[in-house]
Amino acid sequence: MSKESLPKHVAIIMDGNGRWAEKHAFPRVRGHRKGAESVRTIVTLCRKLGIGYLTLYAFSEENWKRPPHEVTALMKLLGSFLKRELKEMKESGIRLNAIGRTEKLPAATRKILLDTIRETSHGSKMVLTLALSYGGRQEILDAVRALARKVQTGAMDPEDISEDQFSGSLYTAGMPDPDLLIRTSGEYRISNFLLWQISYSEIYVTPTLWPDFGEAELLEALSEYRKRDRRFGAVGTT
Ligand code: FPP
Repeated sequence: MSKESLPKHVAIIMDGNGRWAEKHAFPRVRGHRKGAESVRTIVTLCRKLGIGYLTLYAFSEENWKRPPHEVTALMKLLGSFLKRELKEMKESGIRLNAIGRTEKLPAATRKILLDTIRETSHGSKMVLTLALSYGGRQEILDAVRALARKVQTGAMDPEDISEDQFSGSLYTAGMPDPDLLIRTSGEYRISNFLLWQISYSEIYVTPTLWPDFGEAELLEALSEYRKRDRRFGAVGTT
């Protein structure tokens, strides 16, 4: 696949772990464990293909409402995943990043997250961003508050708030907007993910449940993306 036809930034709403577990008569947590294996496969393939940014919706602000045992299991799974993958991330030049209100994560998970971010900070091949305790509306509100404070202190004129300024105040500051947004498990919803950043993203929804989403499924999504005519509101070139 040529580099020009590849998205620079792929964002994924990983959905369907619970349904996968139910289908196999397993507890939900086993679906999340299998989902973590898909994370590994997809991160590895994106890195090999030369995709510069991969952003995964791993835990939403709304996910705190799940039963405590499921939240605890997800947090433990995240910590063990990061510990297990650290060596490989470093070797393959992956830089870990996190967006969201990560201060709400349990202390032990947060420590592993921050240690992994620090230890992979020199990675130059791909930025892997995990959205954790993330909500798009909350992100926009945090940006509005930051800009309002600048206006209040006189450091900024309201007229100077441009799209670029605003983008630079989001958790994703400095990252390109996603070119491709993938959602698994067949739901046609955005679920409060990257609301500002996906204005012009191509959306790809597949019925495949996240634990079944592997290399072939990602390649299919990328091939579908190549066929799209991205006009950004202008007229096409053909
Ligand atoms: C959605 O499935 C998935 C999540 C809420 C969490 C995503 C977590 C993982 C893929 C595993 C751990 C993550 C990392 C980064 C190692 P769901 O439970 O909402 O599925 P359902 O809609 O079928 O119930």
